[in-house]
Amino acid sequence: MKLFLDTANTAEIKKAFDTGLLDGVTTNPSLAAKEHRDFNELVREILSIFKGTDKILNLEVISTRAKDMILEARKLAVKSKNVVVKIPMTHDGLIAVQELSKLKIRTNVTLCFSSAQALLAAKAGAYIISPFIGRIDDHSGHGMEVIDEIRKIYDNYNFKTQILVASIRSPRQVVDSALIGADICTVPYDIFDKLFRHPLTDSGLRKFLEDWHEAQRWKH
Ligand code: E4P
Repeated sequence: MKLFLDTANTAEIKKAFDTGLLDGVTTNPSLAAKEHRDFNELVREILSIFKGTDKILNLEVISTRAKDMILEARKLAVKSKNVVVKIPMTHDGLIAVQELSKLKIRTNVTLCFSSAQALLAAKAGAYIISPFIGRIDDHSGHGMEVIDEIRKIYDNYNFKTQILVASIRSPRQVVDSALIGADICTVPYDIFDKLFRHPLTDSGLRKFLEDWHEAQRWKH
């Protein structure tokens, strides 16, 4: 399963990239606003981190009409071969996705909250579908069940659209996504970092190092 970072913060992206375990980044207008920086400059920085790799940078359109989305998506896609264009899950969005798919521009259909929407996005030729599981749970739904349904639907019909589990709130959701067979998870940096950690690893390592120090007493 691929791991994306859900951030527009270049310091976090660099740290995660340096682990060798990062496959891409998802941004959205809210994440961009958090950075208090010129977004184009920020995109250039992320693309320079990813230069020469096949890591994906997801950039979202802000147009809402199909023809405007297509124009905007074309401008975003020419920035780099690493760019995948995020298109909202609307009537116009799926019209744009079909056109962009003909132009070989990869799309990520965002703001997906149901398996019915995911079915339509796949039929439209989306490269990625992004169901927001945390926000589904926030409204008393069951986000992970939606992922499970989408996996079954895509497997039933051999859709190639990749399932990107978004709006993740815990490391457990990453594990559950992997058990279902999701293709990608996008996580905030703190969750990426938590995936490495376990208190028993820390205490176990501390004890091994202490014991090794003790064992040195018998060295000739
Ligand atoms: C991913 O592409 C989305 O932008 C993101 O996961 C949304 O997460 P949130 O619900 O925590 O804002």
